[in-house]
Amino acid sequence: MAGSARKDSYNKKLIKIASRGVEEAGGKLTLIDIADYPIPLYNGDLEDTEGLPENAKKLKKLFIEHDGFLFSSPEYNSAISGVFKNLIDWVSRPEDSDPYYLVAYKGKVAGLLSASPGNLGGLRGLFVLRSILQNVGTHVIPDMVTVGGAGDAFDESGGLKDDKKAEKAVSLAKTLVETTEKLKS
Ligand SMILES: Cc1cc2nc3c(=O)[nH]c(=O)nc-3n(C[C@H](O)[C@H](O)[C@H](O)COP(=O)(O)O)c2cc1C
Repeated sequence: MAGSARKDSYNKKLIKIASRGVEEAGGKLTLIDIADYPIPLYNGDLEDTEGLPENAKKLKKLFIEHDGFLFSSPEYNSAISGVFKNLIDWVSRPEDSDPYYLVAYKGKVAGLLSASPGNLGGLRGLFVLRSILQNVGTHVIPDMVTVGGAGDAFDESGGLKDDKKAEKAVSLAKTLVETTEKLKS
């Protein structure tokens, strides 16, 4: 999943490239478009009266069903996008039917990527995302892949012009599958 709802999102392009690595490593993946799951901003009163919004429930179920996450996160003011943080927050909320706290995240593995027009490629936001995920119990792979100068980094078909960078993204996804398998065994 990319943490951007934008149709032409650089991070959506990057997640598609990286996700090849999941399949090459023998894993199965579900590509989630955050734009397909609009969720109201978290409000404790809303949660108290109505519980989790329908799309938050759907995403929480999807997260629970998967062993690992591949996230490509845009950097907004040195952190992550509001739409992505809001999603992470709702999915973290407990429900009576949960077998344990933070069931969607605990013991899972995450691989992180980012793309941004800036030189750092969204790296600062990834350290924020790493911290959030670790706090909800997810193991985050040490390596991270960033694409700077994103406005000029992708070709017309959505591929990365820099083959080595594309290979790094694919390789991160492979590491995600391998690490997930090791942790499960
Ligand atoms: C509110 C806001 C804050 C931003 N802050 C940063 C930033 O701190 N660093 C950065 O590299 N880009 C920043 N950007 C630019 C985004 O990286 C750029 O919009 C990028 O295209 C977002 O990712 P996407 O293409 O996947 O939607 C910001 C954009 C917005 C809208």
